[in-house]
Amino acid sequence: MDQGTAPPATGDDQSSPRPTAGLGARLMRRKPVERLVAEGGQGEGGSLRRSLGMWQLTMISIGATLGTGIFVVLGEAVPKAGPAVVVSFILAGLTALFSALSYAELAGTIPVSGSSYSYAYATLGEIIAWVCGWCLILEYGVSVAAVAVGWGEYLNELLDGTIGVTIPAALSNPPGEGGGWFNLPALLVVLLCMAFLLGGAKESARANTIMVGVKIVALLLFCAVAFMGIRAGNYKPFMPLGLGGVSAAGASLFFSYIGFDAASTAGEEAKDPKKDLPKAIMLSLLIVTAIYVLVAAVAVGAMPWGDFEGSEAALAGIMKDVTGQSFWAVLLAAGAVIAIASVVLTVLYGQTRILFAMSRDGLVPKTFSKVHEKTGVPRANTVIVSVFCGLLAAAVPLGELANATSIGTLFAFGLVNIAVIVLFFTRPDMKRSFKVPLFGVSIQLGSLRIPLAPVFPAIGFGFCVYMMLNLPGITWQWFGGWMAVGLVIYFLYGKSRSRLALEETQVTLEK
Ligand code: ALA
Repeated sequence: MDQGTAPPATGDDQSSPRPTAGLGARLMRRKPVERLVAEGGQGEGGSLRRSLGMWQLTMISIGATLGTGIFVVLGEAVPKAGPAVVVSFILAGLTALFSALSYAELAGTIPVSGSSYSYAYATLGEIIAWVCGWCLILEYGVSVAAVAVGWGEYLNELLDGTIGVTIPAALSNPPGEGGGWFNLPALLVVLLCMAFLLGGAKESARANTIMVGVKIVALLLFCAVAFMGIRAGNYKPFMPLGLGGVSAAGASLFFSYIGFDAASTAGEEAKDPKKDLPKAIMLSLLIVTAIYVLVAAVAVGAMPWGDFEGSEAALAGIMKDVTGQSFWAVLLAAGAVIAIASVVLTVLYGQTRILFAMSRDGLVPKTFSKVHEKTGVPRANTVIVSVFCGLLAAAVPLGELANATSIGTLFAFGLVNIAVIVLFFTRPDMKRSFKVPLFGVSIQLGSLRIPLAPVFPAIGFGFCVYMMLNLPGITWQWFGGWMAVGLVIYFLYGKSRSRLALEETQVTLEK
């Protein structure tokens, strides 16, 4: 094995095709990395402010990750996998880990707010970047809605435990589910987070850090209490529904890892993004995985797996059963309410910053990149995104939303892995503050020298495809419809308004 080898530079740095180029070349036009970085922070009429350090970035990623997945979706996944749900968490965590390595490399190399959308624009071309951005709306925008629905379930648990009333089903369920008409709590939590975000990124990050502290304490408290209720017999049979069940549960639980990349949407508000973003992404993923595996192992040990079926606030239920006192369940429900609110806050933040970057490139309307002079916040963007997500949360059930979110995220993660491979071959000498493992290592096969840098991203890509294949057919149908709508919007709007396209036209006119 060789250290320090990299493929020959191809000098492949061209971004825009010639103005006379064909449709294919125009759709695949790329935005140079240097230009993406140079534009960092600039919006319409103002700039974002660099105020976030490594600690706050890590908290943003943990804030966006740890929430509904562990507090609510765990309860839905146990009936699919049995006690082996612990393995499902590890499977989903591995998928996230390989993609996280790719995210860390790209976030350190191209530290801008668009996250994988921007990485795809620099490496794979405009139409793929658009598709990626469109998937990120599933990852962020739709997941805010899903998470807000989970928040409502724990709010009811808390109200019931403290004042003995619950919000009536008509006002706490979406239409068509359990006599629901409108999910009011889900809408309210989104609007509350909007109010925080309008105050500024630094202020929101501060509130988020406190909420993250509360949720970690709440989950550790759960482990300590539920540990006393563990019965060895609950782990048997360990895998009652076989490997298929473990994989299906893993695919649903992938939802619980969504958000570890949220720090990458803060690239233009980070003080030292090249250094801090890769660290924040990796650190948050490790912390979150450790907590998930611990909580899942204790939960299935304390409650027979069959009893998870239909339990909405499973962790709170376990606390109550183990102690025989509702006080603990109420305490956990309070922790969950705060925990899930921080996911809504940070994921909403991420969505606004991704649209900010897409708007700056002309692919969505300019309104999304207008920055308020006093607060440094994209104000109109924040309000539009919050109202959209709030209404979605009020009207659609959690299960549907969670799976749609997972498939969109897996698709975007798959593209990030490919982007790392492409960047390795096209810009091998580019300065990277974090490199995927085996970068610069190669093996010699006869006269052929094979670089190993693509190995980890390729495994990450494989995991993403495997997870996607384990999602139900209905989710694929939704996804197909979503992508079709996205492509129609691109061809009707973005294609002709893209800044790179307009610049090409300008060049043609000047000739
Ligand atoms: N990972 C986030 C959650 O579980 C979306 O709430």
